[in-house]
Amino acid sequence: MTKVSPSMLSADFSRFGEELARVEASGADWAHLDVMDGMFVPNITFGPPVIKAIRHCSDITFDAHLMIQDPARYIDAFADAGCDMITVHCEATGDIHDAISRIRKRGLVPGISLNPETPVEEIAPFLPEVDLVLVMTVHPGFGGQSFISDCIPKISDIRSWADEENPSLEISVDGGINTDTGKRCVEAGASVLVAGSSLFKLDDMTQTIQYWKGFGPDEE
Ligand code: DX5
Ligand code: ZN
Repeated sequence: MTKVSPSMLSADFSRFGEELARVEASGADWAHLDVMDGMFVPNITFGPPVIKAIRHCSDITFDAHLMIQDPARYIDAFADAGCDMITVHCEATGDIHDAISRIRKRGLVPGISLNPETPVEEIAPFLPEVDLVLVMTVHPGFGGQSFISDCIPKISDIRSWADEENPSLEISVDGGINTDTGKRCVEAGASVLVAGSSLFKLDDMTQTIQYWKGFGPDEE
């Protein structure tokens, strides 16, 4: 079954805890938390104190996406805040191997992400060290952008690698995901759909999440 991780970036921030509980009640697998530092991306969102504040609102898996420079500095803070999975970008400054090993040492699930213009080769050195790859299908920084179809072959390339080397690798896609683009990504080999605007615009996201969970890989 495909997993669904709604991006809390599109939630009503004035009711962040309630929105998180709503995501869990809608049958989502994980809650995607977009952390932005105004340096790696031209936007600032929230950090460990806010994540810690909403941790008690739900038991759902916290899927943190760090769009920050030198992420190794903050792994302990995000672990202490209650994150379960932490994904860092291969394009970020600092020692990314160190960041991944800190995530693993805290007993959390490490992930590596790559921007739309970044070739798959750039994440090759990190693939043996992670349990998740987050393929960006928009330029990170803002919700509500259009899906970049050129990224789909990268999903297939990573799935081919995973079939050989690490079949349990989660391949997540993030940016412009809706029913149409999500289905295409799963057919290309994605196992997790991250979606913000397309889910939060719905009064009730339950049925859509359930439908997306039924997407399967292309058998051919
Ligand atoms: C963008 C974030 C995404 C974003 C997705 O930088 O990483 O998680 O919230 O939003 P939509 O689904 O609206 O493209
Ligand atoms: Zn994200």
